[in-house]
Amino acid sequence: MTTIHRKASPAFLLGGDLPVARMGFGAMRLPAREIAGPANDPETSAAVLRRAVELGVNHIDTAWFYFHGGLSANDLIRRTLHPYPEDLVLAAKVGPVRNPDGSWGAPAGPRELAAGVHRTLNELGRDRLDLVYLRLQPDEDGSLAERFGALAALRDEGLIRHLGLSNTTTEQLAQAQRIAPVTAVQNQYGLFHRQDPAVLDACTRQGIAFVPFFSLETLGRPEPADPLNRIAARHGVSPARIKLAWTMAQSPVVLPIPGTSSVAHLEDNIAAAGLRLAKGDLAELATVPH
Ligand SMILES: NC(=O)c1ccc[n+]([C@@H]2O[C@H](COP(=O)([O-])OP(=O)(O)OC[C@H]3O[C@@H](n4cnc5c(N)ncnc54)[C@H](OP(=O)(O)O)[C@@H]3O)[C@@H](O)[C@H]2O)c1
Repeated sequence: MTTIHRKASPAFLLGGDLPVARMGFGAMRLPAREIAGPANDPETSAAVLRRAVELGVNHIDTAWFYFHGGLSANDLIRRTLHPYPEDLVLAAKVGPVRNPDGSWGAPAGPRELAAGVHRTLNELGRDRLDLVYLRLQPDEDGSLAERFGALAALRDEGLIRHLGLSNTTTEQLAQAQRIAPVTAVQNQYGLFHRQDPAVLDACTRQGIAFVPFFSLETLGRPEPADPLNRIAARHGVSPARIKLAWTMAQSPVVLPIPGTSSVAHLEDNIAAAGLRLAKGDLAELATVPH
């Protein structure tokens, strides 16, 4: 099965030195399916992680602020997968501040960002993080120089291998690139959320990984008559699989990280890496309102 996923999902060279299968996994839903809970069964979440790695996933997206009660995504990852497979890339985000009771604080400044990196290293049991994103607040327009500079300093210290940006515009991307190389961008993107193609275009041109979040967008389920469900029925697969295959078809730099707390959904999502949509399918999907 590993070989099947790796063949279907050929490696993308993250930052020029970390080969990852294009279909990754997002860990946000491991502690709880919804942020407000209830908590998931830790054994089920561990089974999802084990199955992901077994099927060839080697890019897991996480954050220290993905927790519910005493259960955190990072702890689940470490408890389940440590000692880690040599080729496993763990990507982490810093930026938001979350209090132990689950409430959100003001966005992090340089000191809180550094604390977030140290906490992540500790929780994951690693000496260096493969990829750390500065997660901006959606629609923020202030300068990121001080915060990105703080992460660049941690990279220079050897605590971070590669840097990324999340919720970025092309202008913010360019600003960050004047400080340090940007290896990956993580923005919301999916069949129903295609506004601002400029960031994806910039990533494609420069070979920067584009990691879409919410690419399944399960909240906005369309009516059965629409192209998504029609095409899914034609291929005999789930609409989720079509959405992920569509996302991957948009650019070779797209590395989806669908999140799930279900082994069956995980297997469905990974299978999307092997689904090639025909030109006609893509043309029909282009008509989906977004
Ligand atoms: N940078 C940011 O600001 C940011 C924000 C949000 C998330 N993220 C990252 O992006 C990752 C993905 O986001 P996400 O998990 O919220 O959204 P998503 O991947 O778009 O969708 C997850 C939702 O879809 C369901 N699902 C998953 N696979 C399915 C399938 N095959 N069929 C039907 N339903 C399916 C899941 O429920 P089940 O558990 O029942 O499968 C869950 O409710 C997160 O895990 C996190 O790492 C980043």
